Amino acid sequence: MTDLFSPVQLGKLKLSSRIVMAPMTRNRAPENIPTDLMAEYYTQRASAGLIITEGAQISEQGIGYPATPGIHSPEQVAGWQKITDAVHARGGHIFVQLWHCGRVSHPDFHGGALPPAPSAIRPAGQAFTYTGLQDFVTPRALELEEIPGIIEQYRHAASMAMQAGFDGVEIHSANGYLLDQFLRDGSNQRTDAYGGSIENRTRLLREVTEAVCNEIGADKVGVRIAPVNAFNDMHDSDPQALFNHVATTLSGLHAAYLHVVEVSMAGEPDQAVDMQQIRSHFDGMYIANGRYDKARGNAVLSSDKADLVAYGIPYLANPDLPGRFLRDAPLNEPDQATFYGGDAHGYTDYPALGA
Ligand code: PHB
Repeated sequence: MTDLFSPVQLGKLKLSSRIVMAPMTRNRAPENIPTDLMAEYYTQRASAGLIITEGAQISEQGIGYPATPGIHSPEQVAGWQKITDAVHARGGHIFVQLWHCGRVSHPDFHGGALPPAPSAIRPAGQAFTYTGLQDFVTPRALELEEIPGIIEQYRHAASMAMQAGFDGVEIHSANGYLLDQFLRDGSNQRTDAYGGSIENRTRLLREVTEAVCNEIGADKVGVRIAPVNAFNDMHDSDPQALFNHVATTLSGLHAAYLHVVEVSMAGEPDQAVDMQQIRSHFDGMYIANGRYDKARGNAVLSSDKADLVAYGIPYLANPDLPGRFLRDAPLNEPDQATFYGGDAHGYTDYPALGA
């Protein structure tokens, strides 16, 4: 029977387990360049079947939070190279998450300019900026002529990821960031080829994924979606139909995996969505994510409702999560106060078993 410790093939990679470290923003890259401390953090977690890094912005334009790493400059590639080398030296595998925040940003990050989005619709809520929380602004709608440049940012970042030694990339199309803003009609009211019908709203994700697959090979490309996540003020009138279509589209591009945030991180979802229906439209690996523990992880795998399971917060506090699951050992408690920003405390000082 398949469980968390059953090995699995992902593209050309043989993963030692089905336990995935989920992407988590930690805001510990002061110059937007990955640091040695980050290398220590990821190295501590190299026993995961697969690590997916925190979101890494694909361009200056894609930034939306302080002290988040990028994956678009040579200095950033050099920083990530240390991380991929260290994880590989421990026998681990690591994908980088390609992130463009779109409207979930603030003019402070853009020399006073408005952040770009599908439509000029302001999300409710506040941005984390270098001077604290500030209300989100009304973003500017991207011009049709700018879309090829957005696709090029993703292609370029994917190429940089290969230079940095990553095993693959995850396209972040979840949680209310740019690609998700295009998908859902609460944030996309365009009247051109990138808005309106479900097919049109999926167009940018399709073109981005196609460009990234052409650049590095579809077997190295995953996509993360969040069909019911209301976080970042996201809404859609028919999420089941939308995300069924997204799955069909990505399956046609032979993406290696679909990583699904199955829960809402904030607020009630507008409607329930059947994740198994979405999965039935996708031929690659399905990574389930959202408040799983060991028992639920094993259950979703043994009942063939997922191929892998991604753990976020448990991984943050337990560098040796697979070892703890294997031994049924107690887990360290995560400390909310040190999730975002700061130093080694609450980052690399969670003890491993027997340490
Ligand atoms: C966050 O910083 O809270 C955050 C970042 C990226 C996500 C979700 C949450 O996809």
